Amino acid sequence: MSNSLFEVTDLSQSFWNEVLTTAHSIKKKTFSVPSEINEKKVGLLFFEPSSRTRWSFEKACLDLGIPSMTSVVDQTTSLSKGEEHKDSLELYLQLGFDLVVMRSGGDLELKNTALSAKVKFINAGFGAFSHPTQALLDYFTWTYDFDRKVEKVLIMGDLKHSRVLRSHLRFSKIMGYKVGLYAAKNLEVSDGELKEFSDSVEVFSDRKAAINWADAVMPLRVQKERHQSQMDFSFSPLLCSELREDQAVLHPGPFMRGEDLEDALLKDKRSLIFKQKQNGVYCRSALLSCMLSE
Ligand code: CP
Repeated sequence: MSNSLFEVTDLSQSFWNEVLTTAHSIKKKTFSVPSEINEKKVGLLFFEPSSRTRWSFEKACLDLGIPSMTSVVDQTTSLSKGEEHKDSLELYLQLGFDLVVMRSGGDLELKNTALSAKVKFINAGFGAFSHPTQALLDYFTWTYDFDRKVEKVLIMGDLKHSRVLRSHLRFSKIMGYKVGLYAAKNLEVSDGELKEFSDSVEVFSDRKAAINWADAVMPLRVQKERHQSQMDFSFSPLLCSELREDQAVLHPGPFMRGEDLEDALLKDKRSLIFKQKQNGVYCRSALLSCMLSE
């Protein structure tokens, strides 16, 4: 096993299978927390806002009996006095945690600093580039909470700015599923970026054909906070009526009701969206347990 998880490709398929099996046993309440891990201490460091990821890591630590500390770098910290993010991170890494979870905005200096430290590390979302634990919990959800085998997942909407999409592109090659792409106008991923995924990716220009291809559909939020300037995009919310009865719907969140998907779809029987939130705790608990029990 590895000391650090920046992207899904940092860990082997056998490691991911072990995490998934552990998460399933946590979900079924048959898991016993390894005694050695509650002597460990975990720091949860957030340079960017988060609800789901932060709260599910916090709940995972509670469930595992691991002492943890959440720290948000904002105007209440020495950031307000001019301290740079990299110096806040250096400080944090020196505090004596066994493992640090970090969300940040895509600064490569932060990534390199975190990965070169002796402390174990989990990436909880890095700019538009990667969000490995989201790909993990999505895969877990369609595997364990849906009665059909999911082999084809359509991701639609703001693909250009999506770290969730990029982690799925890489995870699909490890776990063997196909990713379909249907982009909102002007929010596509470039052909160059998709080249290395040509075996596992299908790009659609027709919305109906894209949805029809998929076993599961995942609309994404338009991430306006990452747009460099006023962008001319257009995307219509996914509607209940566009889906077949045998398809599943997922969304990594946060979802914008009526913008990414029709409000009624959230509680539709095809929706796995609330299962994803519960499974986020099981998957992050499993990951912490596997990484800390080494
Ligand atoms: N999906 C996700 O990362 O949500 P948060 O930004 O709320 O953590």
